Amino acid sequence: MCGIVGYIGKKEAYPIILNGLKRLEYRGYDSAGIALFDGSDIQLCKTQGKVADLEAKAEKNISLKGSLGIGHTRWATHGVPNDINSHPHYSNSGDLVIIHNGIIENYASIKKELINRGYTFTSDTDTEVLVNLIEEVKKQENVKLGKAVQIALNQVVGAYAIALFDKNKPDEIVVAKLGSPLAIGIGDDEFFVASDASPFIEFTKNAIYLEDQEMAIIRRDRDVKVRKIKDDKLVTPYVQELQLNLEQIEKGGYDHFMLKEIYEQPSVIKDTYRGRLLANEGIVRLGGLEDHIKRFINADRIIIVACGTSWHAGLVAEYIFEDLVRVPVEVEYASEFRYRNPIITEKDVVIAISQSGETADTLAAIKLAKEKGAFVYGVCNVVGSTISRETHSGTYTHAGPEIGVASTKAFTTQITVLTMMALRLAKSKGTLSQSDYMLHLRELDMIPAKVEEALQSDENIKEISKVFKDAANFLYLGRGYNFPVALEGALKLKEISYIHAEGYPAAEMKHGPIALIDEQMPVVVIAINNNHYEKVVSNIQEIKSRAGKIIAVVSEGDTTVKEMADYVMEVPVTPETLSPLVTTIPLQLLSYHIAVMLGRDVDQPRNLAKSVTVE
Ligand code: G6P
Repeated sequence: MCGIVGYIGKKEAYPIILNGLKRLEYRGYDSAGIALFDGSDIQLCKTQGKVADLEAKAEKNISLKGSLGIGHTRWATHGVPNDINSHPHYSNSGDLVIIHNGIIENYASIKKELINRGYTFTSDTDTEVLVNLIEEVKKQENVKLGKAVQIALNQVVGAYAIALFDKNKPDEIVVAKLGSPLAIGIGDDEFFVASDASPFIEFTKNAIYLEDQEMAIIRRDRDVKVRKIKDDKLVTPYVQELQLNLEQIEKGGYDHFMLKEIYEQPSVIKDTYRGRLLANEGIVRLGGLEDHIKRFINADRIIIVACGTSWHAGLVAEYIFEDLVRVPVEVEYASEFRYRNPIITEKDVVIAISQSGETADTLAAIKLAKEKGAFVYGVCNVVGSTISRETHSGTYTHAGPEIGVASTKAFTTQITVLTMMALRLAKSKGTLSQSDYMLHLRELDMIPAKVEEALQSDENIKEISKVFKDAANFLYLGRGYNFPVALEGALKLKEISYIHAEGYPAAEMKHGPIALIDEQMPVVVIAINNNHYEKVVSNIQEIKSRAGKIIAVVSEGDTTVKEMADYVMEVPVTPETLSPLVTTIPLQLLSYHIAVMLGRDVDQPRNLAKSVTVE
């Protein structure tokens, strides 16, 4: 995701665009840039870093005058975050300047063609290809900018929200949308463009939300003309009156980023496997893995290093890899591993998991493993992050920016990537029968729908939260694949509600925690219908006979546990190997609601940081 902003009117564009970018930083914040038309030329400034870095740089380096401008805050997809890859991008002549949120999938072939025609490129981005394609069309067809954009967009495959202008015609901005959002604010003699309405909410309540496959020419002091990109048909746009306030818009109508991110999971899990998992054709393909399959298959061990929630995703992966790929796996806290003088050889493969890609301990563990000759593979969310650059190869999770400090969608997308890796390796190693392989592919493809279904229990979970919000301690129990989910459920509750919670493997309860159980102690048990079902049922009986309160996560259609538990949270039936992707959902919601009811700062809990870049 990226954020885009544009302004054309009578006011100074710079403060409006800069402020707008700050509001859109939730969409990405690895680099930012701005282009203003100062009356005679384009003033462009861009930088790796946050909007605040852009502000400092722009105020030193460019004239901030002008009533036409565009700005961008980036979350890298093509090309690492650096000054050059930041937007806006110029066309070769320097006449056109563009910002883009999205991905042009066929950029490589277009780039080749443009290079043949003499174009040169300074960045690695797909966006620079698009602006030069528009320039080339404009020249070849001898058409106006709007028409050139239309012809060019009919040649590209992908997703975009773009805004651009021509310095020779500084009285219009051209915008277009497919897949990525784009809103146009209609003020008095002024127009705004943005990824959502937050950058212009204090200037106007009237907005047009472009539909997919639509473009608009926004003319200073005049009007907005909306057309269909495909057939040039003029569209009468619907001007909406915005009801939302600023905060609500940024959070997409949710009260907190955490809740938004919990609800995004069906779509981001799909984003994670899009183009990589072709269930019907029996294909799993991860670009970063293909060249290293042998290395993984012949490894003596896989060592997973991570911290926090990412470490829990690593624990889930231990079960998946050992089960499906039959390779020994060790999961290590990066902070312990780096100081333990661990035994690592060239025949080991290390997987580093990190949402931010910046966690200091994980980074140090990677460096150590590399020194000892191991092959290191990264599973990161943030493109171009330090860990993604330090590892030999890797796979991005594509979960989009995660703002809530308590990690939710990063966890499920990490598990999605690790599951795809295991399936790909099992296929090559022959450790999974063809029918089991196909079944897993199909079941993985059904996970977004099952997560969606699990989210429908939200109201029920809210009611359960009311009952237990004042408890002083919680115990979370799970077995097998769902032991790490119990740990993750307990961590979520601790992080945002400040209630003490412990996760345990259900069978270990007898060796200590059972002493804590009395009528004050809620015990969350993951008791889905799987290999350990009967054993978990016995654990529930042990808790019940000590008057503990049972909150059980059960499979749809369960009857046995339902009768025994005080409260149940249902999830759809899923094979055990994939079950953490659905059983984790009610636990995220439970911690969220309890924290809200206790009045906690859910998105920025005390003492925590989203990314821990110090030891
Ligand atoms: C911090 C965050 C956690 C995260 C952990 C590891 O503690 O608050 O949510 O799981 O760091 O971060 P990483 O970015 O490496 O996944």
